[in-house]
Amino acid sequence: MRTQLLIPAAGMGTRLGASQPKALVNLAGTPLLVHTLRNFQSLDLIRDCLITVSASAREAYEKCLAAAFPDHAFELVDGGNERQDSVLNGLAALHRDTELVIIHDAARPFAPADAIRGSIDAAGEYGAATVAIPAVDTVLVADESGFLDNTPDRSLLWACQTPQTFRVEVIRAAHDAARRAGRMATDDATLVRLNGGRVKLVMGSPLNFKITTPMDMKVARCVLDGVTE
Ligand code: CTP
Ligand code: MG
Repeated sequence: MRTQLLIPAAGMGTRLGASQPKALVNLAGTPLLVHTLRNFQSLDLIRDCLITVSASAREAYEKCLAAAFPDHAFELVDGGNERQDSVLNGLAALHRDTELVIIHDAARPFAPADAIRGSIDAAGEYGAATVAIPAVDTVLVADESGFLDNTPDRSLLWACQTPQTFRVEVIRAAHDAARRAGRMATDDATLVRLNGGRVKLVMGSPLNFKITTPMDMKVARCVLDGVTE
């Protein structure tokens, strides 16, 4: 199946508190986006890759990619206000004959190869798949006053990760329906589910965490130190 990788990378990293888009932040001497793309390069999946970028920093993305991947051309697409808007712009820019799209956050630099492969295989079979891991913490649902409302059964809870891989018509239909309904979600698999679709869960890894806060940057540096030891 013709497959394209779509990397949402347009976010400003408000919770990280960086002065540039989070994808360009330096992690152990290399931009976060480059770490993330290398996981896909080693699986030969960065050909025809689309990256959503923050329009005001487009040149910085171009420079960073040209330096790290001189032999590869990337298609940069302007992102939108929210992640969902960025993904929608990316979906509109897919090649006409693309059948599967792998959507993976620039902010997850340690996606394991078997999770990536698992998500592609499951999407080929079921039409939609997300990588996720079983919840380790008990999750509490609070009421609006900050008091415990209820505690869902942990054995059914999973923490969402990426990649999320879809047949193109499935994810396009889900985004169109969400736009018409004014529905927003922080991931794409949820939009498929809310549109009545089935989404297969594929086992991820705690290592596939999303860089969100300054503490995550510290942990990421420790992971890289461990890898190079
Ligand atoms: N993203 C995007 N377009 C946006 C917002 C987010 O492409 N308008 C991307 C980010 O670059 C990131 C992924 O979606 O790779 C997950 O988003 P998140 O971790 O929330 O990143 P930010 O939005 O940059 O961070 P914050 O919410 O702290 O501002
Ligand atoms: Mg965000």
